[in-house]
Amino acid sequence: MANLLVIGTQWGDEGKGKIIDLITPSFDIIARYQGGHNAGHTVIVEGRKIILHLIPSGILRPGKLCVIGNGVVVHPKALLDEITELESYGIEIDDNIAISKDAHLIMPYHSLMERMSEERRGAKRIGTTLRGIGPCYEDKAARRGIKAGDLLDLTVLEEKIQDNVEEKNIYLKAQGVSQLSPKEVFEQYNRYASRIKNYIKDVSLLLDEKMKDDQSVLFEGAQGTLLDVDHGTYPYVTSSNSTVGGVSTGLGVSPDKIHSVLGVTKAYTTRVGEGPFPTEIFEEAGKILLQRGNEFGATTGRPRRCGWFDAVAVSYACRVNGIQKIAMTKPDVLDGFEEMMICVGYRYKQDLLRHFPTESWILNEVVPEYKKVRGWEGPISDLKAFSDFPEGFKDYIKTIEDLIEARVVLVSTGMERKDTVFRKEDLRPWLDLEKIEAEL
Ligand code: GDP
Ligand code: IMO
Ligand code: MG
Repeated sequence: MANLLVIGTQWGDEGKGKIIDLITPSFDIIARYQGGHNAGHTVIVEGRKIILHLIPSGILRPGKLCVIGNGVVVHPKALLDEITELESYGIEIDDNIAISKDAHLIMPYHSLMERMSEERRGAKRIGTTLRGIGPCYEDKAARRGIKAGDLLDLTVLEEKIQDNVEEKNIYLKAQGVSQLSPKEVFEQYNRYASRIKNYIKDVSLLLDEKMKDDQSVLFEGAQGTLLDVDHGTYPYVTSSNSTVGGVSTGLGVSPDKIHSVLGVTKAYTTRVGEGPFPTEIFEEAGKILLQRGNEFGATTGRPRRCGWFDAVAVSYACRVNGIQKIAMTKPDVLDGFEEMMICVGYRYKQDLLRHFPTESWILNEVVPEYKKVRGWEGPISDLKAFSDFPEGFKDYIKTIEDLIEARVVLVSTGMERKDTVFRKEDLRPWLDLEKIEAEL
């Protein structure tokens, strides 16, 4: 099969993990290109819930190679804990994972500095996951970062840790916070090195060789388009490029290797953390979505803010990423609503905006222009074919398709793999549906 990118079209948590795990049988390699253990990708297999943070969601299928690209920031302990957890489920981790030598490492001072930064911001905090993601990318851009490949040469590692810790200690001292010992940090990372070194590879080269050998790659996006550091609701974003461009820079593959893009879109909207959210619901309906959708962060456990479907935002995501096909998730959560709202534009001062502005001060002021739509009774989760869906739900999908100018080709109606309805004729060029269905 050709390569495929699966990418979030909202503020993350669209259900990417479920979709990636579901379609993995159709691919040979699953590759993460950005983000870190701020991600929480939930996969339910035979009633058991597994949350992946760093390792691609394809890992649950035997025989697949899972790749962590240079664009990902790696916390060695988080990685090792995740490996241990997977092994406790009977999943073997050996040469089925590869970590780019050029991926930057999250160091103990990163989460420390992030915590201080968030506290200092007070009401203006970003509401990060406090995993040290932002400060690690800061060091990368400042050309002082420590890479996974540095774990392979302890002399280089020790010198880099010495330089970095010395520099960070100046700041920690000024803040009245206890300083770090370069020796202790080195010893800790030396221990990680011995457990991780076998996974460290030249990922760009590896992918090139595998693709020449006709192997196909599923590129796994983390976070979502609106959290992208360039195209999201800056500064309330993460620190990486979660959009399509990140694939190329984050794995060292040329853009022509991204053969198609599947957007993952929740049937309503959620956001975790601070920042503008035009369609957020403060009334009862918001609580219903939170509870029925079990909208609690997979990484931090924080309740997610819930809102109506925002077609302005999702059509922007389709434009930025070149998305023409969508996997819609969690419409089952909307079962039983008599009527719902879909945001079709933003009123801003005298204007009606049809295109998504990224400026958070504008987004904070806009008033959504809603189209009221009828709901459906449900439950839809046991339905097996698109034609079985209630008319109200079919209309909901059609309204969204027209607004975002993309086709819904897959509908997820529940957490399990089997809770999925494919529009087979649309997916056949992209996916080996027989293989996927055989492993449902
Ligand atoms: P990700 O970060 O994009 O992988 O999404 P998360 O795993 O953070 O959040 C999605 C949540 O919704 C997880 O708890 C999934 O198990 C769940 N989920 C995924 N698809 C569906 C669906 O179609 N219906 C329902 N009810 N839950 C779903
Ligand atoms: P997945 O891959 C939802 C949010 C945080 C915060 C902002 C910055 O599971 O969809 P960071 O720690 O990245 O510096 O936090 O981004 N955020 C996510 N929200 N899903 C995610 O990942 C997220 N990763 C980061 O809540 O608002
Ligand atoms: Mg998540």
